[in-house]
Amino acid sequence: MSSNTVPCMDALETLRGVVLLVHLVGFAVMFGGWVVEAAARRYQATRLMDFGVLIAGAAGLVLAAPWGIDGELNYVKIGTKLVVLIVVGALIGASTSRRKKGTPLPAWVFWLIGVLILFNAAIAILW
Ligand code: HEM
Repeated sequence: MSSNTVPCMDALETLRGVVLLVHLVGFAVMFGGWVVEAAARRYQATRLMDFGVLIAGAAGLVLAAPWGIDGELNYVKIGTKLVVLIVVGALIGASTSRRKKGTPLPAWVFWLIGVLILFNAAIAILW
């Protein structure tokens, strides 16, 4: 029987869709915050990017739970995304602590943050 014929499966699919939307909002906040800093040539992480990491990470973990509606999850892919997000979070944390101390972040760390965020989006879509 297709899952569409079971009403509670429909509800579960909609709920998972909402969580995916939240996950994408987290990505948008994180990457949008990064683009704003790059365009302004400030090359440092901001609180907005912290929020993006938290939103995308929390929603990503919920999405990674076995919902039982879309076959086997690719846990190697999900694990890779989790590791990359933890590295992004650590680099953002390093940037924040340097900003508080008044020492500038090396520009390459800032660029690496953007590359890693895009890398995770690429993994999500292309893997
Ligand atoms: C920088 C961090 C991240 C970015 C940019 C990102 C981006 C995305 C994007 C664009 C999608 C939609 C793909 C599609 O539906 O075709 C997606 C889906 C998903 N993400 Fe993430 N994500 C990130 C972190 C994470 C983390 C940390 C986890 C879990 C620990 C995670 C788990 C998932 C899952 C389970 C899906 C559902 C579709 C799938 O299985 O591929 N994501 N992500």
